[in-house]
Amino acid sequence: MSKLFPHLFSPLKIRHLTLKHRLVFGTHTPNLSIEGHPGERHYHYYLERAQGGVAMISVEPLPAHGTAVLTRGQFLPADETMVPHFRRITEACHAHDVVMVQQIFHIGPHCDPENSFEANWSPSGTISFKDGTASHAMTESEIEEIIEGFVRTARLLRECGYDGVEINAGYLALIDSFWSPLFNKRDDAWGGTFEKRMRFSVEILSRIRKAVGNDFLIGLTMTGDDNMPGGSRVEDRMEIAAYLDQRGLMDYMPIKTGSYYDWARVMPTFLYDPMQGPPLATAIRSAVKHAKIQAESLVRTPANAERTITEGWADMVSLVRAQIADPHLANKAAEDRPEDIRPCISCNQVCVGRRFRDYWLSCLVNPAVGRETDWGSHRLTPAASPRRILVVGAGPAGLETARMAAERGHAVTLVDRNERIGGQFRLAATQPKRGEVAELLFGYYQGQMEKLGIELCLETEWDADAVKAFGADAVVLATGSNPAMTGAQRALPHVDRLAGVDGDNVYSINDVLTGDETLGRRVLLLDDIDGWLPASGTAAFLAQRDHAVTLVTASATPLAALARSMVDGPMRKLFAELGIETIADTVLVAWSDPDATLRNLLDGEETRRAFDSLILATPNLPETNLQRDLIGSGLEVHAIGDCVAARTAAMAIYEGARLGRLL
Ligand SMILES: Cc1cc2nc3c(=O)[nH]c(=O)nc-3n(C[C@H](O)[C@H](O)[C@H](O)COP(=O)(O)O)c2cc1C
Ligand code: SF4
Repeated sequence: MSKLFPHLFSPLKIRHLTLKHRLVFGTHTPNLSIEGHPGERHYHYYLERAQGGVAMISVEPLPAHGTAVLTRGQFLPADETMVPHFRRITEACHAHDVVMVQQIFHIGPHCDPENSFEANWSPSGTISFKDGTASHAMTESEIEEIIEGFVRTARLLRECGYDGVEINAGYLALIDSFWSPLFNKRDDAWGGTFEKRMRFSVEILSRIRKAVGNDFLIGLTMTGDDNMPGGSRVEDRMEIAAYLDQRGLMDYMPIKTGSYYDWARVMPTFLYDPMQGPPLATAIRSAVKHAKIQAESLVRTPANAERTITEGWADMVSLVRAQIADPHLANKAAEDRPEDIRPCISCNQVCVGRRFRDYWLSCLVNPAVGRETDWGSHRLTPAASPRRILVVGAGPAGLETARMAAERGHAVTLVDRNERIGGQFRLAATQPKRGEVAELLFGYYQGQMEKLGIELCLETEWDADAVKAFGADAVVLATGSNPAMTGAQRALPHVDRLAGVDGDNVYSINDVLTGDETLGRRVLLLDDIDGWLPASGTAAFLAQRDHAVTLVTASATPLAALARSMVDGPMRKLFAELGIETIADTVLVAWSDPDATLRNLLDGEETRRAFDSLILATPNLPETNLQRDLIGSGLEVHAIGDCVAARTAAMAIYEGARLGRLL
């Protein structure tokens, strides 16, 4: 019995089943399917979370119909051939006392017609806000076809050994488009009055119940608030929930945030306030008597989940990204070991970021995600013969190798010239709203190093002689990278050094974030990394300190790299609030304090603007000195992370984990 989280870890009865506690791994698409079918990767992905102690898993959606297809990595509409594959998953997870449900969806006007090769369907031919695609207004026989698609899929899922199904009526997809007077303009039996707009959902839910019997859960996901002009507010959603609840049509309701019209709030990042979902869940809970309510969306930690239950805001809580990041979160929390949980930093960089490029999902802080078949906890083997490992550099790559090697039984010494761990990633924590990075470094990693007995030597500059004298069995170089400070830009490959870059008032991002330099008021930030957080976060950092910031980029769209993780919209909003100017399609051709000469890449026109300081947000150069000096030393040397090529923290942690498993 958890002393820290007693309410979260109390059982919950839903219909005929009792969940062992109230922590759920909610629906999301890891995009792991092979030709639309579940394979080994899915099996191990879900099994790892079942072993990690979660009470209920909602497996990602099956499309209800051939028109409901979204990404290549998602499942195709259900057919009998899938039964043995899903049965294998449900049986393996049931062995860990996990209630297994699967979502069924049709996202109506927002599907991907270039993947389904079908027109999108909707109640009244809505144009998708997501990509401007037109859709087909369904005929009554097509409405029947979709309802039967939901029912047929639910019946098949019962055969697969599931305990229930979750019907997706969130995000202004198909079902809630029928509810909405804004998107349902029909004047037949499926539109017009409130009852008629409810009919599509009532038919789906009641026919599923008839098909699957009483000993089967039916969940209904709902967005708590459309948050769009003319859309339905939480009061409207309460009325809908009450109507369906009075008819006993669903057993539980995950309450979502965001929609296809408010996309960034579906998986809100660090730029949003924590606990986005619970206030909406509370409101819906007050409107129902029968259905259990699931809160979710940036709840993130067991402490927040416990509060959600204690305060009576919801009956159960789903943590999706938090349990992507740490599949064993539930067991660690239940054992009152929250300090051992690898925290999600709400970045969306590698989970959502990969999913939206149609790659399989992984995680910045935990590269084993999506690789559970080979890298799952069951595959972590103790070192055959423990060795003495020296890791030079305590940035993300070095920290992860050290942690992993020590966990496998090696004796690890980690050295760094700085006074704190974290390398350049530590600087990210100083940017607006990025405190979760500090939680990862100084909470999780620092704590794990102490627990695993890693010897940490800070403020120590190690040269080749010191490394050789140490006498390690293997040396890991994770020495990172340094700002280039050349002003070289990718759109000007023939220019190695920016004219005037050696002059006054030119700084790196590191100079700015460490607070080492005093900058003038008017700042030009040369962004040659497509708006990645080192550039955009630093612009926001400076603007919040009353600098007038102009970001110039060769890219056609400022902050382009943030789009894949859905940080771009909220960041653009923050830029607007802070008055940050962005100039696209432009390079910097000369700096002569205080003048910057900018060239428009489209028409070649040059303009001169006055700034007090120039910040270079350009790719770093690898720190290779130690590597070079150790050539021929006879030592076993491995180089990982930025000292190989300067990239993201995600790649550094991945290489650290990969090497840590091999040493
Ligand atoms: C990669 C990814 C895919 C998702 N896909 C779905 C989905 O298909 N259906 C759904 O209802 N929710 C989906 N979600 C939303 C989650 O269920 C959840 O509401 C959201 O991630 C916020 O919760 P969190 O802060 O605990 O991650 C997805 C989330 C992620 C991260
Ligand atoms: S990639 Fe970022 S947001 Fe996604 S689960 Fe990992 S830490 Fe969380």
